[in-house]
Amino acid sequence: MVRETRLVSANFIYPLFVTEGAPGPIPSMPGIARLTVDEAVREAARAASLGISGVLLFGIPSTKDELGRVASYPSGIVPQVIRAIKSAGVEIVVITDVCLCAYTSHGHCGVLAADGVTLANDETLDLLVNMARVHADSGADIVAPSAMMDHQVIALRRALDAAGHTSVAIMSYSAKYASAFYGPFRDAASGAPKFGDRKTHQMDPGNALEAVREAQMDIAEGADVVMVKPALAYLDVIRRVKEAVPGVPLAAYNVSGEYAMVKGAAAQELFDEQSATLEVLRSIRRAGADLLITYHALDAAQWLKANGN
Ligand code: PBG
Repeated sequence: MVRETRLVSANFIYPLFVTEGAPGPIPSMPGIARLTVDEAVREAARAASLGISGVLLFGIPSTKDELGRVASYPSGIVPQVIRAIKSAGVEIVVITDVCLCAYTSHGHCGVLAADGVTLANDETLDLLVNMARVHADSGADIVAPSAMMDHQVIALRRALDAAGHTSVAIMSYSAKYASAFYGPFRDAASGAPKFGDRKTHQMDPGNALEAVREAQMDIAEGADVVMVKPALAYLDVIRRVKEAVPGVPLAAYNVSGEYAMVKGAAAQELFDEQSATLEVLRSIRRAGADLLITYHALDAAQWLKANGN
């Protein structure tokens, strides 16, 4: 009766990995698999039937090149899945990750600059814009730029508007930290950088005020939803961003490494999986997140349905 924070399945966004290659379980993320187009439609339908608000699509292409060209092919894996979910009439918000790391041969999030180490910001923006436009053309409801390039939000907003996609929203990965907790994801999406790291464009874990500034800049550029990522080691950042921009929907990404920690400890029976998972998710809500992007979404939604909230 007096609970301050409610956790409901409508808070959840469920990430899906869709592959052009061999589907199957992802060993580092128990319970999560690389999916075919048909499987992804079924997973989206299951999520919708449990009251989950959205799916976040990640593509795993079978060919990669220096520029990640496949990312903006209308025949690519992500556009195929968007069209399939929409034509199946699944009532769920379709969100797409807009980043090149799974599409480039070197595994970086954009085009390499002449120094071979940093990313060429503006050249990368052109590619991200093409990718987002193709997703919107295919029926995406929200595009989520995650490459951490400067001015990616305004670049996408202008391009989407010019293409007539004025009601496609932007969920920006505003404060994305250079984190060790993305390890299992990079394995899942085969998007690990072949050399170097992402510290030139992802955030320093020592910084919190910078996260607030990143969120404010993204909102000024037209972001509809802002995000903090990862979630658990950054609960204070979630709180600060929520207080700085209270009227803007805030998402938090409970990332692959956080998921793997809970699943790993639960598998060793170090704690009860259901209680631990719901406690983790509730902490992210309590910190101030409105939307939780989490691999636990299906399980958590089922538990909430069975036990009440
Ligand atoms: C793409 C991207 C990453 C994640 C989401 N989008 C990986 C990265 O930046 O290396 C990580 C998600 C997770 O760990 O669950 N740039």
